[in-house]
Amino acid sequence: MDLRIRSFEEYQKAYQYSVEQPEDFWGDIAGNFVWKKKWDKVLDWNFKEPKIKWFEGGKLNITENCLDRHLEERGDEPAIIWESNDPDEHHRVLTYKNLHQKVCLFANVLKNNGAKKGDRICIYMPMIPELAIAVLACARIGAIHSVIFGGFSAQSIADRIQDAQCNIVVTADGSFRGTKEVGLKNVMDDALVQCPSVQKVIVLTRSRTPVSMIKGRDVWWIDEIHKAETLGQVDCPAEEMDAEDPLFILYTSGSTGKPKGVVHTCGGYMVYTGYTFQNVFQYNSGDVYFCTADIGWITGHSYIVYGPLSQGAATLMFEGIPTWPDAGRFWDIVDKFKVNILYTAPTAIRSLMQHGLSFVEGKDLSSLRVLGSVGEPINEEAWHWFNEQIGKKKCPIVDTWWQTENGGILISPLAGITPTKPCYATLPLPGVQPVLVDEKGEILEGNNVTGNLCIKFPWPGMLRTTYGDHERCRTTYFATYENMYFTGDGCLRDEDGYYRITGRVDDVINVSGHRIGTAEVENAINMFTDVIESAVVGYPHDIKGQGLYAYVVLSKEARDVELTKKDIAATVSRLIGPIARPDKIQFVYGLPKTRSGKIMRRILRKIAEGEINNLGDTSTLLDPAVVDEIKNNRL
Ligand code: WT7
Repeated sequence: MDLRIRSFEEYQKAYQYSVEQPEDFWGDIAGNFVWKKKWDKVLDWNFKEPKIKWFEGGKLNITENCLDRHLEERGDEPAIIWESNDPDEHHRVLTYKNLHQKVCLFANVLKNNGAKKGDRICIYMPMIPELAIAVLACARIGAIHSVIFGGFSAQSIADRIQDAQCNIVVTADGSFRGTKEVGLKNVMDDALVQCPSVQKVIVLTRSRTPVSMIKGRDVWWIDEIHKAETLGQVDCPAEEMDAEDPLFILYTSGSTGKPKGVVHTCGGYMVYTGYTFQNVFQYNSGDVYFCTADIGWITGHSYIVYGPLSQGAATLMFEGIPTWPDAGRFWDIVDKFKVNILYTAPTAIRSLMQHGLSFVEGKDLSSLRVLGSVGEPINEEAWHWFNEQIGKKKCPIVDTWWQTENGGILISPLAGITPTKPCYATLPLPGVQPVLVDEKGEILEGNNVTGNLCIKFPWPGMLRTTYGDHERCRTTYFATYENMYFTGDGCLRDEDGYYRITGRVDDVINVSGHRIGTAEVENAINMFTDVIESAVVGYPHDIKGQGLYAYVVLSKEARDVELTKKDIAATVSRLIGPIARPDKIQFVYGLPKTRSGKIMRRILRKIAEGEINNLGDTSTLLDPAVVDEIKNNRL
């Protein structure tokens, strides 16, 4: 069976087949990939433990699917097109042949530096082709990559490296983003003070930021490449991996504690990202595809690297930011490379929309055929602007809903096939069985219902565990409702059976499409010397979707209120990263708590949203007077 769906009827047929005979369906789809040995069993599962195994007994290497298998047919066609942060720096094009060579060479560099199958390798790099090369080189030798977004602080990096016990780090001297230069290696050095497991650090030169290279531990990327070349190590056979061997770990925040290491495995993830990439975006051979995400997030893993490359696509990687040198940068890139498919985030759309149409005018956007959105609910205004000003009403918008834990897109239109509706992710992809449940866990049947979104059957791209702590995986995703994967999102199913995601129902805040756990931010705020306690909630933010509103109780009057707020924000930035910086900090005398000491976040959320006359029942509060004080001093 060809994996590509070409009409709505075909979608309906595929969907029905996938629900009635899931194993046959996914077995057929998996037949479109290269396996070193075919699987014995398509699926073995229970959501109780949970145990999820796809394509058991199958042997493969994902890089053979992303690289080797394309060499004959499209070896000289672009695999990665790279645009620098600096519009005056020449762009780069890596053909499938080039990429294959570079991945093999760097895979040998990793081996020369002690890397083995199953090792965890931390990658902390700018958005340059070498990041994708490092990722694929790990996959080539069967090492498990853990990519950390370039905006995370030393402490966050250290937490992640320790959790995964990484033995090798791949980084760069620094990165460019707009006018900013971030000294990645220096941040990494601060992290490594706490990471005795790390034996080797491979450092690429990008920004020429001065760095300290530690003898015996740190080596230059370029020197190691030269060594491997001198040794004639140009070839690197792809390690034979079990379908269920881990491919990578990616950390994501939840409502409690430290970020969890979501684990994805080789076989299912490969099949799922390739299948969804083809179908959601309706990629045609020769198209230029541009996903604006960073490879530090799951969108970049699945839809810059693995999904597009397994399908032989030309994937465009952009190092910079949408607003530099001006707010027309995305449109310049579309124009320059004749981009056909553009996949971006509502926060970027809203920010560019705010800068006005002058940055769109005069740019040739006629190459665009498909537009995509991901990361958070897209508001109606942004949807229409994207549709009219960018797509010129000719490009279907695919509003793709999914999560780090899902591996790939779960609910989305298929471009040009599924009739769209503004703000709706529309229908589940084949193989995905969503259900809405109420607070008690009762399944809500029929249409026109709102509830908590769960998935009742496994799909190949789903997480298998959280690294080093399977019990946490169970309690977070599989224990809330019996026999279901719980997403943490609220959702509406309308009269047509279309799905609209309404946002998180837990204590996770979606800031600019990035998940921030309230507990994590509170812990960071509480580290500040004069803070007794704090509570962080989300509030509507014009550009970011949601902003962070922090209520903070100090142990004594602030010496200088504004300066203390800045100090607290700086503390959070240092401990987690700039993305977790609170947008608003309000000093309060006390937090609204129940008699059992639980903070009533519902009230704090309402105040942050400005709904102060509608706070609901406050009678169970220990001290209702604190609410008036908070209300009166609201920011
Ligand atoms: C959360 C997952 C994997 C995508 C990048 C974010 C929200 C994501 C949509 C959408 C409404 C969306 C959900 C989800 N979300 N896409 N199209 N419409 N909400 O990945 O950091 O794992 O966050 O992002 O709330 O649970 P993530």
